[in-house]
Amino acid sequence: MHVAGSIHADVASPAPVWLEKPSDANALDPKLWSISTTRADSGELRIGGLGVNELVERVGTPAYVIDEADFWERVERWKGAFDGWQIYYAGKAFLTTKIARWIDKAGLSLDVCSLGELTVALAAGFDPARIGMHGNNKTEQELRIGIEKGVGRIILDSFDEIERVERLAQEYGVVVPVMIRATTGVEAHTHEYIATAHDDQKFGFATTGGTALVALMRCYHSPRLNLLGVHSHIGSQIYDTDGFEVAARRTLKLFKQFQDATGEQITTLDLGGGFGIAYTSADTPADPETLAPALRDIIIHESRGYGIDVPELSIEPGRAIIGSAGTALYQVGTVKEVDLGGSESRTYISVDGGMSDNIRPALYGAEYSAVLGNRASGVAPKLSRVVGLHCESGDILVRDVFLPGDTGIGDIIAVPASGAYSRSMASNYNHTPRPPVVSVADGKIETLLRRETLEDMLRLDVGYEGSADE
Ligand code: LLP
Repeated sequence: MHVAGSIHADVASPAPVWLEKPSDANALDPKLWSISTTRADSGELRIGGLGVNELVERVGTPAYVIDEADFWERVERWKGAFDGWQIYYAGKAFLTTKIARWIDKAGLSLDVCSLGELTVALAAGFDPARIGMHGNNKTEQELRIGIEKGVGRIILDSFDEIERVERLAQEYGVVVPVMIRATTGVEAHTHEYIATAHDDQKFGFATTGGTALVALMRCYHSPRLNLLGVHSHIGSQIYDTDGFEVAARRTLKLFKQFQDATGEQITTLDLGGGFGIAYTSADTPADPETLAPALRDIIIHESRGYGIDVPELSIEPGRAIIGSAGTALYQVGTVKEVDLGGSESRTYISVDGGMSDNIRPALYGAEYSAVLGNRASGVAPKLSRVVGLHCESGDILVRDVFLPGDTGIGDIIAVPASGAYSRSMASNYNHTPRPPVVSVADGKIETLLRRETLEDMLRLDVGYEGSADE
């Protein structure tokens, strides 16, 4: 296990095997970049009809740019492919009131997993009936708001929560629509999955050992709960259907057990989110047009096998909707050549953001790609590492990328596939203000989240004269 501190350079093999040296470092791999991103004749990137130089001049760096056309294109593809399914956008990927309104306009439902996300959704005027509430430790306040507003479903995660919701439903004199979260022992990442007999983690009720069935029966017998069905979420960045197949088999077996016990069938199966996107050219996620029929076939097959009706289906994609729409823009501050021994060297390019706005590389070892955004360059590409400004050697944004050898101070580095789990997981580490998020479309910029200021942060510090507490 790696203890906090420096992550040591992999001196023996500076470039990972999956990373090909591009013949042209200015080229854009279409599977990585949002739909309206192009490289203009002038050499600069254009997103949503705006040149990166103008964007940076108006918005500053670091900044996150959401390509609105990409969002709509993806929403339509997912809706078309998953026709007949209910799609809940997972707000944890990235949520603002504006995004909630887009989701609403798109006719999608919304999955929230905290009081904060619920607050944003309600502040946007999102129809509570199309909100699903997740979380393994929803607060009483959160549950009260959800029940008062009449959310469409609460996904129950523990016996304590079943009791809590039942008590509140009793207090309000209502019947609350619920699902139970089943843990199927499947853990999927990219194209690998592990199916274990039991799942040693905090979410849901295990299908093995009968706990999930007990939870279902508990809800079924409660006059205050309207049991809609079963929810299963198996992981993140999943590229194929193998893990879903095992999860579907295990959850549908639960449907069958429930039917045997009660003579009734629960109606809804939610397969959760986790559909992957491409972060580097080596990534090969399945597209929704491939996933949807494959998942439906699996569910039909398994339902037949158990002799039950095919349930109503829903999914909760987050990253697959917003991830590829986002591009992060950073400005280069310093460039350093680090000798790796022999004839090898690595170029360290320091930019004005880092692990405070994108923790994913440091937290998960996530790989990204990048290009020079403000201009094209004819200089041969060099193996580079894009690093942040934070006080940690693990503060890496793009671990391995070939960037033009003349990348220098003042240049703009553009990182694709940055719409999900970057700004939404941002922190103020090292008292760094969090970057803004803007949307771009048809040459227009709209601010979704403004840039945080040093003053914003100082206002939380009650020792400061201008503190909000004064
Ligand atoms: N539904 C549930 C119950 C979830 O827990 C999640 C993600 C989703 C839906 C949406 O998953 P998506 O389609 O966006 O992959 N921070 C990590 C991802 C954690 C996701 C947690 N749950 C990352 O940056 O990769």
